[in-house]
Amino acid sequence: MNTIIISPFEQHPLLHEISEQLGIEEGHMILREFPDGESYVKFESALEGKELIILASLDRPNEKILPLIFIAETAKTLGAARVGLVAPYLAYMRQDKRFLPGEGVTSDYFASLLSSYFDWLVTVDPHLHRHHRLSEIYSIPNQVMHASLSISSWIAQKVEKPLLVGPDSESEQWVAKVAKEANAPYVVLEKNRYGDREVDVSMPEVASWTDHTPVLVDDIISTAQTMIQTVLQLNKAGMKAPICIGVHAVFADNAFQDLLQAGAGKVVTCNTIPHPSNQIDLSMLLSEGIKKL
Ligand code: R5P
Repeated sequence: MNTIIISPFEQHPLLHEISEQLGIEEGHMILREFPDGESYVKFESALEGKELIILASLDRPNEKILPLIFIAETAKTLGAARVGLVAPYLAYMRQDKRFLPGEGVTSDYFASLLSSYFDWLVTVDPHLHRHHRLSEIYSIPNQVMHASLSISSWIAQKVEKPLLVGPDSESEQWVAKVAKEANAPYVVLEKNRYGDREVDVSMPEVASWTDHTPVLVDDIISTAQTMIQTVLQLNKAGMKAPICIGVHAVFADNAFQDLLQAGAGKVVTCNTIPHPSNQIDLSMLLSEGIKKL
């Protein structure tokens, strides 16, 4: 079966790499808005009997979800045999329980929405916390890829004497793995979140590591408050300017600048969401995931 890959929302930096690595054709389509804000979708590549891969990072998901559904539906009605979604960043994974009475568990609703329009899903390090596997909420075949090896190779090549720092207990799953692969020590802090931008983290026990370079690793950098508060604590503890590594460069509003201003020595991300901080390429990892499906 012939396969076509498209990147409808932007020229995603991963598009050419993945199409070359897998030897698949890049498709063409038009996605635009009518003056009234409704979406217009038109495929310019023939889809009859073909497998269509849609590459779309789901940061800013609300503006993407409806066009995405229209694209998948259009492809099916044009005869595509299967429509798969490669979402290097998968949104709506953090509201995975009803924290307060009356709240919606949006991770579950988003999962059933995508599961009803796509035949399969490939993603990188979705925020699995209270859910342990994507299949607990996604009913379609899926492949979860992990960036830890790519991150640890970057650290091993670029950082002398790294001390891995996880800003909260949720990050331990990534930090412990990356530290092991980079053969480096690690510490994990305690975080309390009181609101979207109100975060504090515990003072790290780093007295015996002051000759090391702290390397913060987390899955998502959104408001960057988690990293900012950790950077401030490390600063107080007399550590060198930390390197902050995030898998997903969500960066709400001025978060990127705020993090640099707070004292981060360098901010580095994987290229799941296009951003100037992207330095760790995950194209091979995603190509591997796509091959499995
Ligand atoms: C949540 O626990 C995640 O692992 C991240 O720590 C969190 O999403 C970061 O968010 P923010 O940048 O807004 O602090």
